[in-house]
Amino acid sequence: EKGNHRHFMQKEIYEQPIVVAQTLKSYLRPLEQKVALPQMDFSFADVPRITIVACGTSFYAGMVAKYWLEQFARVPVELDIASEFRYRHPVLEKGGMALFISQSGETADTLAALRHARAEGQKIAVVVNVPTSSMAREADLLLPTHAGPEIGVASTKAFTCQLAVLAALAAKVARDKGVMSEEEEREIVEHLTEAPACMNAALAYDEEIERMAPVVAAARDVLYLGRGPDYPMAMEGALKLKEISYIHAEGYAAGEMKHGPIALIDEHVPVIVIAPSGPLFEKTVSNMQEVQARGGKVVLISDAEGLAQASEGTIATIEMPKVHPLIAPLVYAVPVQLLAYHVAVVKGTDVDQPRNLAKSVTVE
Ligand code: F6R
Repeated sequence: EKGNHRHFMQKEIYEQPIVVAQTLKSYLRPLEQKVALPQMDFSFADVPRITIVACGTSFYAGMVAKYWLEQFARVPVELDIASEFRYRHPVLEKGGMALFISQSGETADTLAALRHARAEGQKIAVVVNVPTSSMAREADLLLPTHAGPEIGVASTKAFTCQLAVLAALAAKVARDKGVMSEEEEREIVEHLTEAPACMNAALAYDEEIERMAPVVAAARDVLYLGRGPDYPMAMEGALKLKEISYIHAEGYAAGEMKHGPIALIDEHVPVIVIAPSGPLFEKTVSNMQEVQARGGKVVLISDAEGLAQASEGTIATIEMPKVHPLIAPLVYAVPVQLLAYHVAVVKGTDVDQPRNLAKSVTVE
């Protein structure tokens, strides 16, 4: 039931701090400050390469995981959309692990990709929200998300729970590979433990986001920009907006703008910039200023420190709590979901059952 929420999507956005905490509970041992994964019959220490395969929003979770796994665990990661992976004759290294991410565990292309990877001798790890699903049954290593049933067709809480599991996985792989110290593991556990509270703090900006929604709702095209692990968040923000509000939106790597997409910019195009303060902030801001110089209407999503430095000339800002870069994707998911939600409400579209979309895509 929706309780006092107007739509399931809104309810599911609001559930995120609780379900992410629930999910983390089975992957973290806060007392020992360690990451703990289910029993497995192989060791990450022996895995030379990880291939991540998924579709849609789950693919964007995989994209974030690639940044994390490469940064923390120093393991090479290949990333593919399932429908491409299946038919491109991927080269799969012996002893490799393939990781499939799926809310439903039934997506036809992802399931077929899983079977292909198994036939090619890969260890199969699965991040899935439905524990009885086909993918869950076919996994060597089952990593469940505990988001609970997701009714809204546009994925929200399943996505952030996927991120929580993937962050824990990256830390575990890093430990097993001997490239992360106990101290660093402790820090990661600490930051992840803080994530639900930070997501709660992000939810507090709901009304502010609602107030700016009409500007975005009036647009024909919207761009989202981000860098590093916030680049997939730009893609996810754009996907959410197009799915439920039917406004054309694209997510780009901020640094890629000047290589083409900047030609789209004029005073009619809102540009949502996802830029937590941190090592990549200045770079993203300089891309943002290139957009502003061409009349683009920038909405900057950052923390107080970032906004103090860069909000000049923006049409609106969304303030997030100051968070560690590791958990930024989990926290910044909230404002992009809320923005898509409120824009759809302004437009009067069917938020929970958008046209042409199904919750589980079991045809290829
Ligand atoms: C977007 C969305 C879809 C799914 C995709 C994969 O909001 O929900 O893009 O993420 O269809 O579905 P699963 O995760 O069930 O494999």
